Amino acid sequence: MTTLAILGASGHGKVVADAALATGLWDKVAFYDDAWPAKTKNGSSDIVGSTASLFSLTDKPAVIVAIGNNNVRLAKQQELAAKGFAVATVVHPAATVSSSAVIERGTVVMAGAVINADVKIGHACIINSNAVVEHDCKLAAAVHISPGTCLAGGVEVGQGSWLGIGVSVIQLKSIGKNVMVGAGAVVVTDFPDNVTAVGVPAKIIK
Ligand SMILES: CC(C)(COP(=O)(O)OP(=O)(O)OC[C@H]1O[C@@H](n2cnc3c(N)ncnc32)[C@H](O)[C@@H]1OP(=O)(O)O)[C@@H](O)C(=O)NCCC(=O)NCCS
Repeated sequence: MTTLAILGASGHGKVVADAALATGLWDKVAFYDDAWPAKTKNGSSDIVGSTASLFSLTDKPAVIVAIGNNNVRLAKQQELAAKGFAVATVVHPAATVSSSAVIERGTVVMAGAVINADVKIGHACIINSNAVVEHDCKLAAAVHISPGTCLAGGVEVGQGSWLGIGVSVIQLKSIGKNVMVGAGAVVVTDFPDNVTAVGVPAKIIK
């Protein structure tokens, strides 16, 4: 029995579990979350321990972090890797990924996503259901591309940024680090680090 450990027993964690099991690479998932022992199930899978119990395992399973907060997800992944855990990459078999795309460890690609030629995706990213990442895009670590969001060719997204559900970004635009782009926005200009932008066309509100 090959088990994938998932840190973070969230709704997102359930989707990661479904994707992981659909690959056939693992037979079972085991969640670790600080809600344990009060909470022992996430969907149909067991929560078997806390964050500390995962870190203390001597027989280290493959692991992926399913924490929604981008920077926390990356930090936990880096801590696990430093402890000698093998960090998995999960690509749902119903996603379409170009053979020339590069996807780093700890990233999940959900069902229906399309990742096209020469795309580079960093560690601990989430490419959510039905997202489209067109040719030559470059995503740094810990980026979340929400369901149905489309990046045209050559878009760059900085570390820790989150593009909400149904966002469109036109070609060759650059989005900085730790940027939040609100649901449904259309990005037609570059954005600097640490801003929130919403609307059509997207404008900075914070
Ligand atoms: C952008 C966002 C982060 C702002 O959240 P917030 O900081 O709590 O901001 P508020 O809800 O206080 O809204 C601030 C203003 O922006 C407007 N606004 C918020 N989100 C907006 C959006 N997506 N599009 C257009 N306007 C938006 C609000 O109406 C409000 O306007 P007002 O000041 O005129 O009343 C949030 O609304 C959002 O879009 N989150 C993305 C959620 C998502 O995609 N989830 C997918 C999970 S996989």
